[in-house]
Amino acid sequence: MTPLEQMKEKAKTVWSDFASMENFTGMAAPQLVKFANINANDRVLDVACGTGVVALTAARSGASVTGADLTPELIKRAKENSKAFELDVDFHECDVEYLPFEDASFDVVVSQFGHMFAPRPLVALGEMLRVLKPKGTIAFSTWPPELFMGSFFRINGRYGPPLPEGAEPPVLWGNVDIVTRRLSSLADNIVFDRNKLIMPGLSVQHIRNDFETGAGPLKRMVEKFSDDPTKLNALRSEIDSSISHYFENNHLRMDYLMTKAQKI
Ligand SMILES: C[S@@+](CC[C@H](N)C(=O)[O-])C[C@H]1O[C@@H](n2cnc3c(N)ncnc32)[C@H](O)[C@@H]1O
Repeated sequence: MTPLEQMKEKAKTVWSDFASMENFTGMAAPQLVKFANINANDRVLDVACGTGVVALTAARSGASVTGADLTPELIKRAKENSKAFELDVDFHECDVEYLPFEDASFDVVVSQFGHMFAPRPLVALGEMLRVLKPKGTIAFSTWPPELFMGSFFRINGRYGPPLPEGAEPPVLWGNVDIVTRRLSSLADNIVFDRNKLIMPGLSVQHIRNDFETGAGPLKRMVEKFSDDPTKLNALRSEIDSSISHYFENNHLRMDYLMTKAQKI
């Protein structure tokens, strides 16, 4: 297995219990559906869909929706959600860098805090645009490097192994200049917006505990350092410091970037 393949195998474990966060990221889903102007006539692909929060929200508007994600546990949950909500969404387990769809199959391709985790940004973007019709809309929500989730991922990155050659940090997808450069020869009418998610919690430690016991990278990092209290304490203290900058009125404020563009 190549280092990039190993990274993706590890990502499946990191995200495997992200279902516990679906009601949290689900709060941002209507914003992306609205921003992408999804309507009942559209064929929509939600990339790195997790348990389907954006896909299912889009399907409620009458659009015909497909969801795609790397992690088997999340696709299983997405299918259960689809059945429970009586929404007919087609979910596939696959890698955004190798989408199993025909060229120009969709009117809209979206991703919420998702495609940013594919190691090779231009490969992921190339695939998302390949399956999009000419003049179709690509729209995504991403975490900017200079705000809370950016610092959260940076801290986690410092305590984990270095990225393999060819992989780029996910939060570069939250930088307006870099996103513009990546899209510039492939799409036009680029529009940016910002929005925020609120995570409730009574203290900085309370919020950190939610990240540790919920899902994703911090949970895995804490498991990894369970027999190294010095490293674990250092990690926790850096995370607490980062949370404290964005903690107010018993919640953590998590601002994010939204990008929309039209395929040339
Ligand atoms: C933060 S979660 C977001 C999930 C969902 N979009 C949401 O808003 O709840 C990141 C997602 O990216 C998926 N992912 C990571 N790397 C991927 C890849 N190479 N191809 C497809 N999905 C990937 C993970 O499995 C996970 O579901």
